[in-house]
Amino acid sequence: MSTSEKRVGAIPAMGYGTWNRTGDEARNGVTWALEAGCRHIDTAQGYGNEAEVGGAIKQSGVPRDEIFITTKVAPDNYGPGQLRPSVEQSLKKLGVDQVDLLLLHWPSPHNKYPLQTYMEQFAEVFDAGMAKSIGVSNFTIPLITEAVELLGDRKITTNQVEVHVFMQNRKIVDHCSSIGVSTTAYCPLARGEVVGDPVLAEIGAAHDATGEQIALAFLLAEGHVVIPSSSKRDRIVSNFAARTIELSEDEVQRLRGLDRDQRLVNGAWCPVWD
Ligand SMILES: NC(=O)c1ccc[n+]([C@@H]2O[C@H](COP(=O)([O-])OP(=O)(O)OC[C@H]3O[C@@H](n4cnc5c(N)ncnc54)[C@H](OP(=O)(O)O)[C@@H]3O)[C@@H](O)[C@H]2O)c1
Repeated sequence: MSTSEKRVGAIPAMGYGTWNRTGDEARNGVTWALEAGCRHIDTAQGYGNEAEVGGAIKQSGVPRDEIFITTKVAPDNYGPGQLRPSVEQSLKKLGVDQVDLLLLHWPSPHNKYPLQTYMEQFAEVFDAGMAKSIGVSNFTIPLITEAVELLGDRKITTNQVEVHVFMQNRKIVDHCSSIGVSTTAYCPLARGEVVGDPVLAEIGAAHDATGEQIALAFLLAEGHVVIPSSSKRDRIVSNFAARTIELSEDEVQRLRGLDRDQRLVNGAWCPVWD
């Protein structure tokens, strides 16, 4: 990737998300994202597409060291002795020796496994060099606090959580920022719900951009990493292009006003959110 590409810490600020994209859809999405210039791909054990993601990366011919690969350990693999073999499988499927970022996908649902059980194993795979950096996903303030303690000197790079204009998730975002942990915004397009919003469209018109691009540019302006997903080539290209849009302070303030606490991911497995 070009060295001028914006990063949050070591993470390229704009990535491509692959949830719900399997088989050819995953292969095509990753191929088009890389062709558009995107150099950050987000996958997970739970997405069932690590092999396709790895295959598309290899096929692209883009050198491995230019692509930032994130995968996530599924909570099913948190049991004693299970986490490391699961990461070995992920590396094999992705066709790499090391991922750039390894996340714990969710806190163990209903506390099936105590945090210590899987944090110790997580630390072990990091110490073994299977991930260049580590982080968490869907962690609340109390869980982050506990995780920081359990990981000692090992730094939590990011917390990947739901953040979009309609759910700005200030409490956890501000807490992470105060302890030097970045936020990676998932569902940055509110799973398509940003389409048609009049404020986004109006600000977009002033930038010769779409409302969807403004939704992404806003999250970047807030200092977050964003990982939008699309199955369509033209949308992948236009989403990636949103990284060059510079919003004014007034526009950012106006977009902050769109927050309506509209959480989209809230299943039975979720922790009690902050
Ligand atoms: N850590 C976690 O627990 C977690 C949870 C959820 C998501 N994630 C990650 O975050 C990524 C993004 O989240 P997401 O996929 O749920 O939601 P999203 O990126 O907010 O939205 C994706 C949806 O928006 C549509 N879309 C994309 N670009 C568009 C555009 N320019 N104009 C109009 N519609 C557009 C897509 O439809 P088309 O395909 O038809 O374009 C798709 O239905 C995931 O892929 C995954 O990598 C992580």
